[in-house]
Amino acid sequence: MQQWRYREVTCVVSLLLATPCLFAAGDVTDERVLTEAGKGSSWFVKGGNFRGEHFSPLRAVNDETVTELGLAWATNLPVPDGISATPIVVDGIIYLSGAYSLVFAIDAASGSVIWQYDPDVRSRLAQYPELSWAARVNRGVAVWQGKVLATTADCRLIALDAKTGKEAWSAQTCDPGQGYRITDSPYVGGDSVFVGNAGSESYEQNRGYVSAYDIKSGALKWRFYTVPSDRPEENRSAAMKMAAKTWSGTALEKFGGGGSAWNGMTYDPESGLLFFGTAGALPYDFRLRSPDGGDNLFLSSVIAVNAGTGEYVWHYQTVPEDSWEYNATMNIILADLNIDGKQRQTLLIAPKNGFHYVLDRHTGELIAADKFAKVNWATHINLETGRPVYDPAAEYWARPDDAVAVWPNMWGAHSWNPMAYHPQLQLVYIPVIDVPTVVTGYDNGDFVDTLEMLTEVDGRPFSPGKLVAWDPVANRPRWTVDHDLPFNGGVLATAGNLVFQGDAFGRFSAYAADSGEKLWSVATGSNITAAPVSYSLNGKQYVLVPVGAGGGVQFVYPQMHAGEQIHGPTRLMAFALNEKTSIPSPRAESRPLPPQPELDASPEELERGQQVFSRECKGCHGNNAVARFGGSVPDLRYATADTHAAWHGIVIGGALQINGMPRFELGIEESEAVRRYVLSQSLSISE
Ligand code: HEC
Repeated sequence: MQQWRYREVTCVVSLLLATPCLFAAGDVTDERVLTEAGKGSSWFVKGGNFRGEHFSPLRAVNDETVTELGLAWATNLPVPDGISATPIVVDGIIYLSGAYSLVFAIDAASGSVIWQYDPDVRSRLAQYPELSWAARVNRGVAVWQGKVLATTADCRLIALDAKTGKEAWSAQTCDPGQGYRITDSPYVGGDSVFVGNAGSESYEQNRGYVSAYDIKSGALKWRFYTVPSDRPEENRSAAMKMAAKTWSGTALEKFGGGGSAWNGMTYDPESGLLFFGTAGALPYDFRLRSPDGGDNLFLSSVIAVNAGTGEYVWHYQTVPEDSWEYNATMNIILADLNIDGKQRQTLLIAPKNGFHYVLDRHTGELIAADKFAKVNWATHINLETGRPVYDPAAEYWARPDDAVAVWPNMWGAHSWNPMAYHPQLQLVYIPVIDVPTVVTGYDNGDFVDTLEMLTEVDGRPFSPGKLVAWDPVANRPRWTVDHDLPFNGGVLATAGNLVFQGDAFGRFSAYAADSGEKLWSVATGSNITAAPVSYSLNGKQYVLVPVGAGGGVQFVYPQMHAGEQIHGPTRLMAFALNEKTSIPSPRAESRPLPPQPELDASPEELERGQQVFSRECKGCHGNNAVARFGGSVPDLRYATADTHAAWHGIVIGGALQINGMPRFELGIEESEAVRRYVLSQSLSISE
């Protein structure tokens, strides 16, 4: 009601000024999404519509015209560390966020920045240095009833005025002091903002939860915990009582955390349900976590709650004895399918564990579960019981002396990069990571080394990344595109029989949605992880893609491809038909190497330094100490002699903790071995 009045007031003002009646900035409501998402001019919510399809009904750009697609505009954004957000587009204005939760409103016709907001996450790092990594990952904003909702690594949910970017309210939604953090966007529906958090992977006792806030006041409406409390008196709801029974022995007291809802929610106004998935828990090995058995509800589950009250409605647990951290937190799509002659209202999810699930979205009943990637932790899912049938092949704990290849990798066969759905073709497009983790003596193997090891799998050439078009009725792939690297962008499907996806090499490509044939591709100059979206303005269809690798996996992206530097700037690029703006080429950074100290190290020491570097430093400072171009983490190869002199004070002493460089529990010798290894990398530049 309120927002109607708001809109009418702006219409009266427009009448007086004899201008057309425009919507106020960021005017998104249930009603508008329901009536207008099908027209495609705006991209109101992360999934494009309430079904979470990542689908645009626009068809001006289609399988015949796509070859005429060219760059309309490109805007470099002052965001280090890339963008992993799916942009929101409302009435000609784009809203998105990047690393450090910097938020932007951008003119969708020209690419010019209208306003910019900085929640000053960096200053929080002084207090919470453990947030250093999470602060560089932010998967976007939501826009609702005149407000832009943003989250921060230090657990704030902030509402901004969509017109001005000024803060309207802010709520502290978790405690960063306990290792909670937020990397995902908020979600919206009704008069609520829904927000989850990460953190169950940092401390054993962090319970995951989802909170709903009132959009106008920022008041907390409800909170749903995904695992029970170790204090029985706190488990008052029927759902928590049921869940508590599945934590046998001392599991709840000793550990009793887990189940972060760290990514992906789908709000369904028709059923009044909110759907989301949960992570696993520490320790990952089920036998350590729950030696007396039990399903440890609601870990690794899909959960439906009443969006208005937060009451539990149903759950489906994907991996009851999860020892592989197979999060079920990937984006959820609602699809109506004809299965065995019956019209079914389903929910589709492709979690980390490599099975694509079709569930009844009203009851959680399992309809189908089939492998979309190579999987060896389970042979199949029993459709009668809904439970996986475990395969000893991935039982790394049973063979501590062997190198056990666990498929999929613990980072998942599908991660946060959104999959898309084409409702007419009834196909799901999954960005697949088809790589194992090799676990040796319980040590979670090095991902990149694993990749280098594999050239062939099951007697066939190995492609570690794929775009799989999955048929959720026949439960098998319709077509597959092979990628040379595992981590590629999220997906957009369109009514023009197209699927758009960016890749690790920075190529942005369009495939025929029905056949997978590659129809168009451009080199953008920066690696891509985010999902594209589409909108129309003044009769023109745009396809918009954020480029610049974000999302915390920057270090697995290549620096160069085909002789070109592809760790280019963070950039927003809008494509439209018959546009011919040339793609600004990112220039390779040419940087003088400062005078370096002498290097005196044995090959063994360099080898040891490299091992420590790969384990402790690579995630931020990049593969082989080559940092992301323009990122917020320095390229250590260019460290000065002064930095080398201060090395142990920085690495062990925590001298730069205030700027997000953590302190490490390393011995002087290890720290020195890393220093020498880094120096060897510097010297190899000058050679
Ligand atoms: C969570 C991310 C993160 C990790 C992990 C990390 N660093 Fe850093 N490091 C940073 C950031 C951010 C800075 C920049 C700090 C600043 O601006 O003062 C930095 C700066 C440094 C510097 C100073 C560089 C200079 O030129 O001033 C050194 C040396 C360094 N790191 C070494 C290491 C080593 C060695 C490791 C592994 C043992 C490591 N870092 C792991 C984030 C990280």
